[in-house]
Amino acid sequence: MTLGLIGSGMIGGTLARLAVAAGMDVILSNSRGPATLADLVTELGDQARAATPVEAARADLVVATIPLSAYSQLPADALAGKTVIDTMNYYPQRDGTIPELDSNELTSSELVQRHLASSRVVKAFNNITFFNLGNLARPAGADDRSALPIAGDDTAAKAELVALLDTLGYDAVDVGTLADSWRSEPETPVYVQPYMPGRPPEGLSPEDTFRWMTETPGHPVPAGRIKELTENVVRGPAGGRFPGSA
Ligand SMILES: NC(=O)c1ccc[n+]([C@@H]2O[C@H](COP(=O)([O-])OP(=O)(O)OC[C@H]3O[C@@H](n4cnc5c(N)ncnc54)[C@H](OP(=O)(O)O)[C@@H]3O)[C@@H](O)[C@H]2O)c1
Repeated sequence: MTLGLIGSGMIGGTLARLAVAAGMDVILSNSRGPATLADLVTELGDQARAATPVEAARADLVVATIPLSAYSQLPADALAGKTVIDTMNYYPQRDGTIPELDSNELTSSELVQRHLASSRVVKAFNNITFFNLGNLARPAGADDRSALPIAGDDTAAKAELVALLDTLGYDAVDVGTLADSWRSEPETPVYVQPYMPGRPPEGLSPEDTFRWMTETPGHPVPAGRIKELTENVVRGPAGGRFPGSA
C-alpha cells in the first residue's frame, strides 16, 4: 500500500512518518520539486521517495494537504478515479476570501470535490494539529486511542479512509457527506482544542509556547466524545480566525 502526499509540510510530513512507521510506502511531493524534500526522504528511509504531485497521484491512496488557496492546482486529470483525502481548512486571512464558502453554500471539501470532479474526495485529519496527530496515534484497541471525524459522499472511499486511519493509529467517526463536513471545520467544538493537552504555563515566550505545545503529549479523545462534539453543533460563519485576530 502506497500513500501519495500532495503537500509534504507539517501535516503531510506527519502523515508520512505515521505511514512509514505502519509499514506503508510513501510518495512525497510539493510545489518546489522533489529535490527540496531530500531531508525528509532521508529521515524516512527506504519506504519513502519524493516525486511530483502528478506522480504522487498514482499512489494507492492520495492525501491533498496543501493550503486551500492552492486547491485549484491539484492535478485533477492525474487524480481522476482516485480516492483523495482532503485535510484542508479555510482561513480567509491566509487563503483569501472564497464567496461560496463565506455564504455557506459549499463546505471547503465540496469546493475541492468540484475541482476534482472525477475523484472521490473524503475529509479527514483537518481537525487536529500536526503535533497532536503525531503524538496521539495508538495501536487498535489501546485504551487511550483517539478518534478523528471523517466525511465523504462515497461509501467505498470512506471505507478506505477508515482502514487508513486504523493503520495510522486512529478510530474514525463518520459525520456524514462532504456537505456535512462543516461539523469538523475551524471554529467548531471538535476542532483542535479537544486534543490539546491544556494551557501552556504562564509567562512562556512565543517560541517556548510553541515548543511546549509540540512536545507535550496530546489529550486522547475517544470516538464517543467525537460523536457528541460533532452532533451537538450549530453551523456558524465559515472559516477559521487565527488567535488574536478580529
Ligand atoms: N498544520 C496543522 O497543524 C494543520 C492541521 C490540520 C489541517 N491543516 C491543513 O492542512 C493543509 C496543510 O497544512 P500544513 O500545516 O501541512 O501546511 P504547510 O506546512 O505550509 O505545508 C504545505 C505543503 O503544501 C505544499 N504546496 C503548496 N502549494 C502546493 C501546490 N500547488 N502543489 C503541491 N504542493 C503544494 C508545500 O510545498 P512548497 O513549500 O514546495 O510550496 C508544503 O509541502 C492546510 O490546508 C491546513 O489548513 C493543518
